[in-house]
Amino acid sequence: MKPTDKIPEEHKHVLGLRLPSDPRWVNLAELSIEDILSDHAYCEQKAALSCISLIQAYPECYELVRELSPVVIEEWGHFRAVLAEIDKRGFQLGRQRKDEYVNELKKFEIKPGGRMERLVERLIIFALIEARSCERFRLLSLFIQDESLRAFYHKFMVAEAGHYRLLLDLANIYGNAEQVAQRWQQYLDYEAGVMANLEVRSDRIH
Ligand SMILES: [Fe+2]
Ligand SMILES: [Fe+2]
Repeated sequence: MKPTDKIPEEHKHVLGLRLPSDPRWVNLAELSIEDILSDHAYCEQKAALSCISLIQAYPECYELVRELSPVVIEEWGHFRAVLAEIDKRGFQLGRQRKDEYVNELKKFEIKPGGRMERLVERLIIFALIEARSCERFRLLSLFIQDESLRAFYHKFMVAEAGHYRLLLDLANIYGNAEQVAQRWQQYLDYEAGVMANLEVRSDRIH
């Protein structure tokens, strides 16, 4: 059975992702866990930074500022947890790599004139990154051999699922629900294409 066969339909629907990850990825990732942990450490830093940049750019958005402030702490806590795992295993925190996945997603971003429309685009992209991260953590939590890493990734899977939901909820607060839903579907299609064209790499979370 392929790892992704075990993902319940219900869960796939919740995440909405169109293309399940290539099941070979878990096996590859497992062989280069030092690289995976380093890449993951940067993903968490970038998540914290993204929240800070939204708060800085949209101070007038009451819910956004209030909801994302604690997420900054949470994402930074995730970074520290990954760093602790790196230290525990005697690994090194490597250098940050080019984030092809996120760069590809950003190419789909519309840069409309309206500030709120731009905000909605950014929230949708962040939600998508959280959803894909969640899907990947789930695979690691289920199929990696090392039991302590399975528990480790399970916690991230749960947290990122919550962020994905929160970011989409915020998109619905600041955008028209119908347009957000439509744009979300367009992004899901586009993201599936990005995933299909990205090389399956052993050293990246995405
Ligand atoms: Fe996180
Ligand atoms: Fe997150």
